[in-house]
Amino acid sequence: MTTKTDQKFQLNVQRLHDELHYHNHRYYVLDDPEIPDSEYDKLLRELQAIEAQHPELLRPDSPSQRVGAPPISEFTQVTHLLPMLSLSNAFNEGEVLAFEKRLLERLNSTTPKDDELDEAEQGLLQNKITELEYAVEPKLDGLAVSLLYEDGILVQGATRGDGETGENITENVRTINSIPLKLTGENIPQTLEVRGEVYMPKASFEALNKKARDKGEKTFVNPRNAAAGSMRQLDSRITASRNLAMYCYATGRMAGALGEEIPPPEKHSDALQQLADWGFRICPDSKVVKGAKGCLAYFAEIGAKRDELSYDIDGVVFKVNSLDLQQQLGFVSRAPRWAIAHKFPAQEEMTLLKEVEFQVGRTGALTPVARLEPVFVGGVTVTNATLHNMDEIARKDVRVGDTVIVRRAGDVIPEVARIVPSKRPDNTIQIVMPSECPVCESAVVQLEGEAVSRCTGGLICPAQQKQAIKHFASRKALDIDGLGDKLVEQLFDENLIKNISDLFSLKFDDLIKLERMGDKSAENLIASLEASKKPTLARFIYALGIREVGETTAKSLSNHYGSLDAIKHTDEESLKEVNDVGPIVANHVVSFFQETYNNEVIEALLAAGIDPILPAKVDIQDLPLDGNTYVITGTLSLMGRSEAKAQLEALGAKVSGSVSKNTTALFAGEKAGSKLTKAESLGVEVLNEEALIKLIKNHSTDA
Ligand code: IVH
Repeated sequence: MTTKTDQKFQLNVQRLHDELHYHNHRYYVLDDPEIPDSEYDKLLRELQAIEAQHPELLRPDSPSQRVGAPPISEFTQVTHLLPMLSLSNAFNEGEVLAFEKRLLERLNSTTPKDDELDEAEQGLLQNKITELEYAVEPKLDGLAVSLLYEDGILVQGATRGDGETGENITENVRTINSIPLKLTGENIPQTLEVRGEVYMPKASFEALNKKARDKGEKTFVNPRNAAAGSMRQLDSRITASRNLAMYCYATGRMAGALGEEIPPPEKHSDALQQLADWGFRICPDSKVVKGAKGCLAYFAEIGAKRDELSYDIDGVVFKVNSLDLQQQLGFVSRAPRWAIAHKFPAQEEMTLLKEVEFQVGRTGALTPVARLEPVFVGGVTVTNATLHNMDEIARKDVRVGDTVIVRRAGDVIPEVARIVPSKRPDNTIQIVMPSECPVCESAVVQLEGEAVSRCTGGLICPAQQKQAIKHFASRKALDIDGLGDKLVEQLFDENLIKNISDLFSLKFDDLIKLERMGDKSAENLIASLEASKKPTLARFIYALGIREVGETTAKSLSNHYGSLDAIKHTDEESLKEVNDVGPIVANHVVSFFQETYNNEVIEALLAAGIDPILPAKVDIQDLPLDGNTYVITGTLSLMGRSEAKAQLEALGAKVSGSVSKNTTALFAGEKAGSKLTKAESLGVEVLNEEALIKLIKNHSTDA
């Protein structure tokens, strides 16, 4: 017999389920939260309290079940209703073109017997297919998971296993917030299998590894291993503590109440939309393209933004969009004929560390560089890789003679990621920091509190001189077109330049004598040197290469002082009042301008006609955002946080690291966390990135 109170609790549980499912979906699937975290937690605690008092009301699809369950002793095996397939691979353009050619040949040559064709099909046969439509998606680098729903409720999660049977990881799957425990929307099949990739967002992976490092524990090699390791936990409470996510990319079996098969929509892209409507998270970077050409363009597009994506990928997947054509094409062994993975070149390879040399940077820092047995990584041959610094060498226990894993991600310098301990020979050699600079033989010192050792030679060190010139010419500095690193080396080694001011006395006749220098290039270089003579003051200060003065600080100095002379004659006390400048930077700036040599070079530059454009003179109090304090949180997608900060500060605003009642507004990017909650609880205005850009635009006269 149910009493009135029981009924009340039941209704309450239902309401809390509905609300929590709804807000969970808004937050984790749509990335568009409606209520602050604190409010969500309150609802969850309310539900947990009722469930503790009335265990009979605890249901497997309860939102409280995401925190993990007591450990199990082993994973059981489950059989997939439809097998989980794999994909064949293409590694270059030719293989993608061949894939499409195969498809077209196959589709156009299937000639069923005439009497099996109705009229429409006869017509189709004459209209040969010449172009195919593809659904194209990032190839997520995580682990494949199959979800099973009965009557819209998640009842099972399984690994791929051998494709036929996998491991039952239901408890672990339940802890992933972007996996719905209960589906929404219409026409949900009674039995529904959904496939997708469970992965660890890059930011969560970094945070997890940082935590492990801080505690002296073992780190994960990459986000895929971290995701796989987290899903293999017998204790799902550990899985719950890892920030995992899932993108769904296919359906498996779909059946109605009588076990009848439910036909999927016409296109794969529609099937994805249907999954989204039911509450699943689908990858926002997927799209539909035409022909192999469209596929290749997509490969290039995703390749270009690979580093900016919040998740790791190892390629893209092309799928024939029409499910009807998919069916006609069928499978070969375990892989569909209608899909292919176009993989990026491998980013990690194994090779031998032959020797370590120390490179001297612009500020004298000595960087250990590994000389390697040449190896093809990420599409290029790599012979050198950075070892970062001595602390990293110690942490990874790298020695000369080791077999190492070289990693090359995007455009960054290749690095020695780790060694292969089982391949270590007996005669490896310890790596030691030299006591003398390998270039100028000045003493090498390591200052207290610094990870790096430095050459004390300063500007008598040719290595530091060369780096200073390269920096001066670089894109964010004077941006001298045609003056790349190689040419700087050449000019320096031929004694044509000793410092940055010498660049402006280069003559056509000097240049033309250089190896591999034609008339046209020499002329162009002279012209671009001439064109670089009017940098903004901020760029000019940055180009001087004062230690710790990056672009943002250079901008602040320029805005604050308004002229080179004013910066030259300031003192540390005044400098510390500049946005972004602390005691260390202040000291570097003052020391820089105390050096006679630096002043001589600056004089020579000015004499050569360099004429920095001064910032428009402004009184701080006249700045449009004077008196306003902002906080920026979360990930901005269109500009970096430090850039946003610099721009707001240039308009007179203060940018603070924490929200208080004095905060004018909080700009919240993606994945905003506790600051957002705090702002909301204090009633501080919360604005998005669009509003931030608008604010900056509306107030800026010139950037
Ligand atoms: S479709 C019918 N789509 O790649 C083909 N797979 O070798 C079934 N993967 O283990 C797979 N991203 O986990 C498909 N957008 C995507 C994918 C994807 C990653 C993984 C999948 C599977 C492997 C296929």
